[in-house]
Amino acid sequence: MIDREQGAILPHQPVLYQEIINSLKPFGGGRYVDGTLGAGGHAWGILQASSPDGLLLGLDVDPLAIKLAQEHLADYGTRAIIIQSSYVMLTEQIRQLGWSSVNGILLDLGVSSMQLDQTDRGFSFQTAAALDMRFDPRNPISAADLVNELPEKELADIIFQYGEERHARRIAKAITYARPIRDTLHLANVIRKASTGRHTDNSRRRQRIHPATRTFQALRIAVNKELDALERVLPQAAAALSQGSRLTVMSFHSLEDRMVKVFIRRESRDCICPPRQPVCTCGHKATLKEINRKPIRPHEDEIKKNPRSRSARLRIAEKI
Ligand SMILES: C[S@@+](CC[C@H](N)C(=O)[O-])C[C@H]1O[C@@H](n2cnc3c(N)ncnc32)[C@H](O)[C@@H]1O
Repeated sequence: MIDREQGAILPHQPVLYQEIINSLKPFGGGRYVDGTLGAGGHAWGILQASSPDGLLLGLDVDPLAIKLAQEHLADYGTRAIIIQSSYVMLTEQIRQLGWSSVNGILLDLGVSSMQLDQTDRGFSFQTAAALDMRFDPRNPISAADLVNELPEKELADIIFQYGEERHARRIAKAITYARPIRDTLHLANVIRKASTGRHTDNSRRRQRIHPATRTFQALRIAVNKELDALERVLPQAAAALSQGSRLTVMSFHSLEDRMVKVFIRRESRDCICPPRQPVCTCGHKATLKEINRKPIRPHEDEIKKNPRSRSARLRIAEKI
């Protein structure tokens, strides 16, 4: 896919590209963190906008992303510092660079197109592949472990909570019955059979997506402990920003978006005591200012060009 802005062939089309670069207000000499580097699409824009001497620390747990980003950002030389690490290690990674604070942080959550397109990673059910779904190959737990070993009730809870799948119980029951599940296609078929004919929901969106989509998403979130990672990184990000700098988070899942929203709102308040408490005892001081009350979403044009962008929600906060 050719990206005109960047004149490069990118395996992952960066979503809300211009909105994200603008939100971070990069400047020459600034220090930025892209905690979810991917193929480096957004990072390229941050480095470009912070020319000639802005620095970018790019983190990703996936060695493939690291390799692609290294190639894509090669022209920026030592201005791009690329490290295979979880963004959960944000504070430590910044400390190791000797940076006392940073001038902007980006988190573009979830899975990239190149991960979905790499059929052997198990994120997609277009072809038969091992049930892997790990972003980080060092993660000891894969989707196969969850699918073939979790008690039915726990599996149903994961599918319901992370997949927002109404048929979670039925699907979990079918999976447990069909064990051992061999691969992605086998799993998709079991899910399809468990949900076929059960859809009473008339919404077009629900009918458009494959019945296995939600369960696959749920398993991916559970395998990579994505919500736990997000919860751990947000306070680190807020603490690492210098005054007036921005935290920009793009999520693709309502639970993530909610977590980001709640965090920003809480950090924007001087008091977080229960509303009925007459006198403040918490001593909490606001550290962030919410920049957009409603999340920024892609325009129709972008969704048409890149359907994977359709569920993106962008929230921006500024350190005060
Ligand atoms: C949507 S992609 C980012 C795409 C990137 N903005 C671009 O323009 O190419 C999300 C990336 O986050 C990475 N990721 C997921 N969890 C992570 C974590 N805990 N720490 C670091 N990277 C993570 C994934 O491996 C994936 O490459």
